[in-house]
Amino acid sequence: MTATTAIGIDIGGTGIKGAVVDLVTGALLTDRVKLPTPKGGRPQDIVETTRALLSTVSKGVGDLPVGVCFPAVVKNGHTMSAANVSSKWIGLAAEALFEKGLGLPIHFVNDADAAGYAEAQFGAAKGVAGVVLLTTLGTGIGSALLNDGVLVPNTELGHLQIDGHDYETRAAYSAKERDDLSWENWAARLQKYYSTLELLFSPDLFIVGGGVSKHHENFLPLLNLKTRIIPAVHRNNAGILGAAALAARFPG
Ligand code: BGC
Repeated sequence: MTATTAIGIDIGGTGIKGAVVDLVTGALLTDRVKLPTPKGGRPQDIVETTRALLSTVSKGVGDLPVGVCFPAVVKNGHTMSAANVSSKWIGLAAEALFEKGLGLPIHFVNDADAAGYAEAQFGAAKGVAGVVLLTTLGTGIGSALLNDGVLVPNTELGHLQIDGHDYETRAAYSAKERDDLSWENWAARLQKYYSTLELLFSPDLFIVGGGVSKHHENFLPLLNLKTRIIPAVHRNNAGILGAAALAARFPG
C-alpha cells in the first residue's frame, strides 16, 4: 500500500527545508523547518545538516518514506551536474551517501522535477492534459516537463543557450536582483526565454514557480505568448511536496 504521509526535504543553495506532508491533500502536516545550507555546499556537510533537520521534522511521527530533492541532474541516484553548488557533487552517488548518513532509505530527485510532480499531484498541473512546462525562477532556472501528467526528468531547460548565454544567468530571479532590473526589463528577458521554449515544445500550459511567483501580477501580464502562463500553486513548498510524494511512490 502506498503511504499517505511522507517527509519531503528540499536542498537549495541557501537553505535546506523539510516537513511532513499529507499525500492525499498536499498539505504540510508540520511546520516547515529550515536550516542554512552549509558554506561551500560540500556533500558531507549537506548530509550532516540534512540529518539534523530530519531529526527535528521526524520527531514523533514514526517511520515515514523520505524524499530529498536537489538542484542537479539526478541519474540512478547519482548527481551528474553542479550549476550553483559545489563541483564535488558531479558524478557523486548522492542517494547512497544520504542513505548512509541518514540511516534510512530515501528517494533522491532533481528539485524542479519534484516541484513539477507536486503541481501535477496537488496544484496547477493537476488533471491538465497535454504538455505542461513548469519553470522555477530562483537562483537558477529549473524545469519540469510533463505530458498528460507523466514527468520527463532532468530537462535542465534553464541552461538553454540563447544569444550566447546560458539563459538562467540572464532570466533567473537572481539575475533580476543582481542586475537590479525593473519588472519590465526582467520581463523582456523572460519574453525571450519563454518564446524560445514555446518554439521548441509547443506546450499547452506554462507554470511559473519559485518564490517570485508570489508576485506574478508584476511580470506574467507583461509577457506576450501563445501559451497560457500561470503561477504555481505551491511555490516554495513544491519541492518538499514533490519529494515526499515521489518517496511514497518509489519506496527505497
Ligand atoms: C540546475 C537544475 C535545477 C535548477 C533550479 C539549475 O541551475 O542545473 O538542476 O533544477 O537550477 O534549482
